[in-house]
Amino acid sequence: MNFKIKEGSVCVVMGPSGTGKSTVIKHIVGLLKPTSGEVIVEGVHVEKADEPTLLEIRKKVGFAFQFGALFDSMSVYENVAFPLNEHTNFSKEKIEKKVKEALLMVGLNPDEVMKLYPHELSGGMQKRAAIARTIILRPDIILYDEPTSGLDPIASDLISRLIVKLQRELGTTSVVISHDIKESFKIADQMIMLYDGKVLADAEPEFFKTTDNPIIRQFIDGISELALE
Ligand SMILES: Nc1ncnc2c1ncn2[C@@H]1O[C@H](COP(=O)(O)OP(=O)(O)OP(=O)(O)O)[C@@H](O)[C@H]1O
Ligand SMILES: [Mg+2]
Repeated sequence: MNFKIKEGSVCVVMGPSGTGKSTVIKHIVGLLKPTSGEVIVEGVHVEKADEPTLLEIRKKVGFAFQFGALFDSMSVYENVAFPLNEHTNFSKEKIEKKVKEALLMVGLNPDEVMKLYPHELSGGMQKRAAIARTIILRPDIILYDEPTSGLDPIASDLISRLIVKLQRELGTTSVVISHDIKESFKIADQMIMLYDGKVLADAEPEFFKTTDNPIIRQFIDGISELALE
C-alpha cells in the first residue's frame, strides 16, 4: 500500500468493511506500528518514533474515532477540555473560553450542552462534541473514522460542511474514512479506494464518478453480487 496525502486537502478513504481503513489511519498516529514499510507525517517517521515524538505527533494529528468517541463518565465540558488538561498548562478561564469556541465551531450551543453527559445527547450531537474535542488543540491534521455513519442526511451534511469549514478556516488536512458516497463527493479533493488490503485507486473524485472499473462501480453504485437464498 503506497499513497500520499497533500497538505491542506481532504482525502476520503473508502473500501469494503474489513479491508483495513481504520488500520491505515491508526498507523498515521502511531497507534499501530507497521511490520514493514514507512509512515511519514510532516517529515517525521512515525514507525521509528519514540514516545516523546509520538506525543508531539498526536498533538498535531487529531483522531475522531469510529466508535465510542466520548468518555461516558465525563460531561461534555470535561470531554472537550480533556486534551487541554492533558497537553497544556492553560488557566481555567482560558480552557473554558477554548471549550466554548470549539463547541460553537461544531454548531453546538455551549450553554445547552456543556453540563450534559454523552448519553443525554443525540448521536449526531455526540459526533459533533467528539469533533470539538478533536479540534481543540488546533491539529494540522484530522483523521475522521466514519464521521457520518448512523446519522440522518441532514446531520451528515452538517458534519461534511464542518470538515470543509475546518479545512478552509484552519488549513486542516483531513483524512476521512467513509462509506457515505454522497457525502464523500461533497468534500473530497482526493479519494483512495482500498480493496483486499491494497490501494485499488487513488485519484480525484471525478475519476470515481466516471470509471468503468467493475469493483469501483459496484461500490459507488451500491450493488451486491451475493445471491440470497
Ligand atoms: N488489533 C487487531 N488485531 C488483529 N487484527 C485486527 C486488529 N484490528 C483490525 N484487525 C483486522 O484487520 C482487518 C482490517 O480491519 P479494519 O478495522 O482496518 O477494517 P475497516 O476497513 O476499518 O472496516 P470497517 O469498514 O468495518 O470499519 C480486519 O480483518 C480485522 O479483523
Ligand atoms: Mg473501520
